[in-house]
Amino acid sequence: MSPAPAPSHPAPVVRLRGVGKTYATRVLDGIDLDLFPGEVHALVGENGAGKSTLCRILSGLTPATDGGMELNGQPYRPRSKRDGEGAGVHMVMQELNLIGTLSVAENIFLDHLPHRAGWIDFPKLYQRATEVLDRIGMRDLDPRTTVDQLGVGPQQMVEIAASLWRQCRILILDEPTAALTEPEVKQLFEQIRNLRAAGVAILYISHRLEEIRQIADRISILRDGRLVGTQPAASLTLDEIVRRMVGRELGAESFAEGRTAGAVALSVRHLRRGHQVRDVSFDAHRGEILGFAGLMGSGRTETMRAIFGADQPDAGDVFLHGNSQPSRFRSPREAVQSGLALLNEDRKAQGLFLSLGIRENLTINALHRLSGFGGWLRRSDETSVVRSWIDKLAVRCHSPDQGIVELSGGNQQKVIVARWLFRDCDILIFDEPTRGVDIGARFEIYHLLADLAAQGKAVIVVSSDLLELMSLCDRIAVMSAGRLAATFRRGEWTQDKIMAAALSEHLAPTRATAASA
Ligand SMILES: Nc1ncnc2c1ncn2[C@@H]1O[C@H](COP(=O)(O)OP(=O)(O)OP(=O)(O)O)[C@@H](O)[C@H]1O
Ligand SMILES: [Mg+2]
Repeated sequence: MSPAPAPSHPAPVVRLRGVGKTYATRVLDGIDLDLFPGEVHALVGENGAGKSTLCRILSGLTPATDGGMELNGQPYRPRSKRDGEGAGVHMVMQELNLIGTLSVAENIFLDHLPHRAGWIDFPKLYQRATEVLDRIGMRDLDPRTTVDQLGVGPQQMVEIAASLWRQCRILILDEPTAALTEPEVKQLFEQIRNLRAAGVAILYISHRLEEIRQIADRISILRDGRLVGTQPAASLTLDEIVRRMVGRELGAESFAEGRTAGAVALSVRHLRRGHQVRDVSFDAHRGEILGFAGLMGSGRTETMRAIFGADQPDAGDVFLHGNSQPSRFRSPREAVQSGLALLNEDRKAQGLFLSLGIRENLTINALHRLSGFGGWLRRSDETSVVRSWIDKLAVRCHSPDQGIVELSGGNQQKVIVARWLFRDCDILIFDEPTRGVDIGARFEIYHLLADLAAQGKAVIVVSSDLLELMSLCDRIAVMSAGRLAATFRRGEWTQDKIMAAALSEHLAPTRATAASA
C-alpha cells in the first residue's frame, strides 16, 4: 500500500483534464478540475455556461467529447449513470427524476428495495425511509405518500434523501436548493457538512450566491463553457464572483420604485382546499406586485392553483375587477380566457411541451395574437416575436426552433416566463419565476415584472427567495400551514418578521395539535 498522503496535500479524488463537449456547438472546452475528499466545491456560471453538462459527464450520463478523467489516480470512463454510481459518484439532478406514482420510500430505495422471500419487505422499507428522512429533517413526511402528491420542494428533499443514504465518495448537487426555503436549506447544509466531515467530495451548483459563500470551500467559475478559474471561497467577494461569471458589472437596483397601486383586480375570499388552503382571503391591486412568502408546503402553490382552476376549491370565492359576481373557473383554460395567467413552479411537469421547440413553447398560449386573416399563422411575425423574446431574456440557443429539451434548465425557465409575458394577461401569477435562473437574467425578469405592474397589471409572485420578494414587491403576504398569517407593506417588513409569520401556525399550540390530530 502506498503511504497516506500528507493531510495538507491530500490527493484529489477526481481529476479532470481538458474535458470538452460538443453538441451542435461547443458547450464545454478544456476543463481542468480537481475535487478533493472532504471539500465542498461550488460550480457557478450563467444559464447555459455548461455546469449541468460537466456534472453529467462526471456522473456517467453523457460521455465527454474529449479530455480525460481519473478517479483515485485510475482512469475513469463511466459509460452510464450506473457505472458512475458503482464508482461512488452520485448526482442529484437539476430536474426532478422521481416516479410520481410510487411512494416516497420506494423512490428513495428504488434500486435497493428490501426483500423477504421474494416479496418487498414494506415494514422494513418504511422504517428505513423514515430514518433517512429524519436525517434531513423531514420527519413529518409519511414515507407512504405517493410522490405526485408532493410539491416541488418536498420532492427535491426526497431526491436528495435518495442519494444521501448511499455510500458515496462524490456527491453532485445540481441546484438542490432552487425550490427550498431557509429552514430546509439549513437542514441540507447540515447534511452536507456531515458528508464533508466524512471525507465525501461535494460538487455544488447554485445560482444563490450568498448560499455558496456559506457552504463552499472552493469556487470554480464557468463562463461560456470555459473555466475562468478556481479559488478558495474565502478569497472571493460576491461582486467578484458575479463579475467573473457574467463578465460585466451588475448594478444594485430596486425594482419597486415609483409605482402606485390602483383598483382591486383580484379578490379572494375564504378560499379553502383540503388541509393546504385554509380560509385564505386577500386582494391584489392593479399596478402592484404582491409577494407570497412561506415555508415549503405552506399552501402558496395550492392557493394559486385553486384560484386558477387548476384544482377545484372546496369553498370560497374569487372576484375579478370589482365584480360582485364571483368567478369560478372549472379549468385553467377558463381562467386564461378571463385574463389570468399562472406560471407553474414545476416547469417540467406542468409548463413545458418537451417534444416541441422554443418557438411553440413560447407562443402556444397566444396564437390568436399571431394569426392573420382566416386564422392562418403568420410565420414570419411569429419568428420575429420569438427572436425578440430570446434577445430580451438572453435565452442561450442556436435557433428559435431548437428543441426545448436541449436548453439548459435556466433557459427553459426563461422561455416559460416569456410565454406568459407575451400572452398579455391582466392578472399574472408567477410561482417561483426565477427558479434556476442566473443573476443577470433574474434582474431582467424583475424588470419585466416591474414593467407589467407599471402598465397597470396585477402581478403576484410566489417565491422561496425572501431577498427576491423584498427587492421586488410592494406588499408581501406570508402563509403558514395553509393560512394567510400576515401581510406587510414595503417599509414594514423585515426578514425576521416574515420568518416569524411563516412559522406562526406551527408554533400556535392549539392549532398545531388540532392539525396533527
Ligand atoms: N442534448 C443537448 N443538445 C444540444 N445542446 C445541448 C444539449 N444539452 C445541453 N446543451 C447545451 O449546452 C449548453 C450548456 O448547458 P448546461 O445545461 O450545461 O448549462 P448550465 O450551466 O447547467 O445552465 P443552467 O444554469 O441554466 O442550468 C447550453 O447552451 C445547452 O443548450
Ligand atoms: Mg444546469
